[in-house]
Amino acid sequence: MAKVFIPGSFDPLHNGHVDIVDQALDLFGEVVFGVLVNFAKPSGLFTPDERIELAVDTFADRTGVTVGAFEGLAIDVAATVGADFMVKGLRSAADYDIEQQMAHMNRSSSGIRTVFVPCNPAYSFVSSRFIREIASHGGDISHLVPAPVSTALTDKFSGG
Ligand code: PNS
Repeated sequence: MAKVFIPGSFDPLHNGHVDIVDQALDLFGEVVFGVLVNFAKPSGLFTPDERIELAVDTFADRTGVTVGAFEGLAIDVAATVGADFMVKGLRSAADYDIEQQMAHMNRSSSGIRTVFVPCNPAYSFVSSRFIREIASHGGDISHLVPAPVSTALTDKFSGG
């Protein structure tokens, strides 16, 4: 049993992220799901508070998952929450290229190790950017995101 920290921007959270949380829960037992935001530079579709609310709703039935919003370096948050490892999901070799550099940088700075978890192939093509783009044009993304996110996207783009 270990505690792992999963950082990301999650704007918005999608089923690929949920799969990684579920895999990490299964592998390690305790997950801190962290929305990492630069509060000095607000941007994105959902506000930090909205992203947190959507994650809390999505993971409400999972024992062992806590959700929080954090600022600053992922390594500092990982230390603050007492994480043994960071976990990152990988969809592709392109993800690996970026993530392995971050993992080495983070380990060299703080000693924390990053564990890569391959995503469920069913979600290998899903990205928050495409979810935002398709939803903004009224496209159906309900099969790719948790129900609370689907509702929030509909509300957001119908002026609700
Ligand atoms: O969901 P994303 O946008 O791919 O998440 C990227 C994130 C937030 C995990 C990454 O940018 C990050 O760790 N940001 C915090 C700042 C930090 O620690 N930077 C140093 C990285 S080596």
